[in-house]
Amino acid sequence: MVKFHSLLTFVSAVCLASVTSVLAGSYTLSDNIVGPAFFDAFEWQAIGDPTHGRVQYVDQATSRSRNLTYASSNSFVLRADSTTTLSPSGPGRQSVRIRTKKTYQTHVAVFDVRHMPQGCGTWPAIWETNESNWPNGGEIDIVEGVNDQAPNAATLHTAAGCSMPASRTQTGTNGQLDCDTAVNGNTGCGVRFTEPNSYGPGFNNNGGGWLAVERNNQFINVWFWPRNSGNVPGDVRNAISGVNTDTWGTPSANFPNTSCDISKFFNAHNIIINLTFCGDWAGGVYGQSGCPSTCDDFVNNNPAAFANAYFDFASLRVYQ
Ligand SMILES: *[C@@H]1O[C@H](CO)[C@@H](O)[C@H](O)[C@H]1NC(C)=O
Ligand SMILES: *[C@@H]1O[C@H](CO)[C@@H](O)[C@H](O)[C@H]1NC(C)=O
Ligand SMILES: *[C@@H]1O[C@H](CO)[C@@H](O)[C@H](O)[C@H]1NC(C)=O
Ligand SMILES: *[C@@H]1O[C@H](CO)[C@@H](O)[C@H](O)[C@H]1NC(C)=O
Repeated sequence: MVKFHSLLTFVSAVCLASVTSVLAGSYTLSDNIVGPAFFDAFEWQAIGDPTHGRVQYVDQATSRSRNLTYASSNSFVLRADSTTTLSPSGPGRQSVRIRTKKTYQTHVAVFDVRHMPQGCGTWPAIWETNESNWPNGGEIDIVEGVNDQAPNAATLHTAAGCSMPASRTQTGTNGQLDCDTAVNGNTGCGVRFTEPNSYGPGFNNNGGGWLAVERNNQFINVWFWPRNSGNVPGDVRNAISGVNTDTWGTPSANFPNTSCDISKFFNAHNIIINLTFCGDWAGGVYGQSGCPSTCDDFVNNNPAAFANAYFDFASLRVYQ
């Protein structure tokens, strides 16, 4: 019996180990958001910009009637107004901010993006947070940049007590390691991607690509695959019912829980897609970006410069 018992223990330990390694990165499709499904999965936030941008966020009816959001069977476009010259004393440039109705904790989100907003003064973002509990519920920025300055950076913002190790398994480059919003004016702990085509005009000229985030209690990882990359995993490229992130290779950004209790610093998040202009970041560094005039003045007076200030999503798929 002793022998049998130890064999059983051995067998079950082996089984447990292999089951664990098979399941660790496996997630099942929960939300398949393509084309018109964006209108149902998201709510439109006609709110004031918390980052003081030269923007006027419009509601869904306005964005549809002005064609600032548009869906076909395989595309969802979200854009800024590119026809109106603005009065300096009036509201900002019309744009759109959308937030998922659902919230997510442990999940994978894969964004298949054909085009992202470009142009002087633009500040687009794809990110996740719980706005009613910021910063205590954490923030994960997946795509963010300003004034066409590549590459992309992925960044966490948290309450005090969450930081990242200097040495991590990722292809990107560490910025600040402390994720605390109170440090250095809410810089956050960011990781700068290596690929110049991960953001802005370079991304768009290459036909975009895929961005993915995986969040669980052990780590938050962000990946990027340019459109023509030979390394795009099959389950990212082809819409299938599940993904296994264990096969995805080294992420662009890795945020492990070694000095950050992820389950404590991150609660249920909405996915948010927004496009603002100028404001705290894009406006703050506008003078160093090679862009003309001042940021607000450029946004007010050059509507045609915003013709390419749009997102085109082929899909957003969430797996849990
Ligand atoms: C847009 O996204 C960024 C996340 O990077 C966030 O900090 C900012 O508050 C958002 N701005 C607006 C106007 O929603
Ligand atoms: C709305 O925008 C889409 C996407 O850019 C475009 O294909 C369509 O022609 C536009 N519709 C109108 C009425 O302008
Ligand atoms: C990291 O995650 C593991 C597994 O959930 C947990 O046991 C550990 O306490 C976490 N570490 C920190 C610092 O939160
Ligand atoms: C945001 O966080 C608060 C506090 O933890 C929680 O009560 C609320 O349910 C969260 N919101 C969403 C949408 O999950």
